[in-house]
Amino acid sequence: MPDAQINLPVFTPRYWEFLTDDEPPEGDLAEDYHEASKFYRGTMGRAVTRQRLESDEVLRRSSAIGARELPHLPRLPLAPVDPEHEQQAAPALIRRPSCRDFAPQPLPVEQLGRALWLSYGAYQDRIPDSPAHRRPVASGGGLYPLELYLVADVTGSGRKGLYHYYVHDHVLEEVRAEVTTEELRELGAQPDLVAAAPAIVLINGLFWRNRFKYRLRGYRFALLEAGAVIQQLTLVAQSFGWGVVPFAGLYDDVVERLCEIDGVDESFLNAVFLGLPE
Ligand SMILES: Cc1cc2nc3c(=O)[nH]c(=O)nc-3n(C[C@H](O)[C@H](O)[C@H](O)COP(=O)(O)O)c2cc1C
Repeated sequence: MPDAQINLPVFTPRYWEFLTDDEPPEGDLAEDYHEASKFYRGTMGRAVTRQRLESDEVLRRSSAIGARELPHLPRLPLAPVDPEHEQQAAPALIRRPSCRDFAPQPLPVEQLGRALWLSYGAYQDRIPDSPAHRRPVASGGGLYPLELYLVADVTGSGRKGLYHYYVHDHVLEEVRAEVTTEELRELGAQPDLVAAAPAIVLINGLFWRNRFKYRLRGYRFALLEAGAVIQQLTLVAQSFGWGVVPFAGLYDDVVERLCEIDGVDESFLNAVFLGLPE
């Protein structure tokens, strides 16, 4: 394990450094939107989901089937799919339900390392002798604007720590040797689940890594890429026999303080909880 080392971003430009003469120097839609979409203690649970659903039949049906229906159009039936056959052909590709009930034991650190590598690790491929590299997910411009952090017991000490995954050396950089159960319970709105998850991967966006090129569109790219990493982690977890649940319900500011990031140039996007299913 490397010595305690905090991976402070070395690249923290402000948006106005990238403005051209014909752009107004105030406001930043991506930063404003991102801030407005954060979960804080006060905003979480304010949604009146049930009331809305009860009062609107169209909304109720739409959210129940999760698909757009166009029944007035001609239909072309597809050949039926055999779930049994698909399961045998590609077991990890058939989604099993999200797991929220984890066995207490930690996940083996070797496998955690493989899971990180298989979801966002770096490898030289197709371009030998070049500093350019590839990752398991596609990335607009190959700029990879995400950073993964891991909360897990990786030392066998019985204590969970917080680590930053530095992809190029495939190492965990120890941000905090210990994150207490109390601190974990403070992280989100389902404290028992957060504290019980054997491993939590925090996916953060370091937005200017691609926004210098793609500007506002780069923010969209970062969100798309986070989805791809979540899916990759889900598939890896399933192939390892782990339970997995993507988890949004963490308080952004608490996560950001924990990761020692500023919440603007680098900010929390989503988490993935991993563990052996109970
Ligand atoms: C972006 C995202 C965020 C999620 N956040 C949470 C969460 O905060 N808490 C939770 O219990 N489940 C969370 N889930 C899991 C969904 O509730 C779950 O995927 C959905 O209900 C479908 O069920 P299944 O995954 O079991 O098929 C999240 C899923 C996604 C994709």
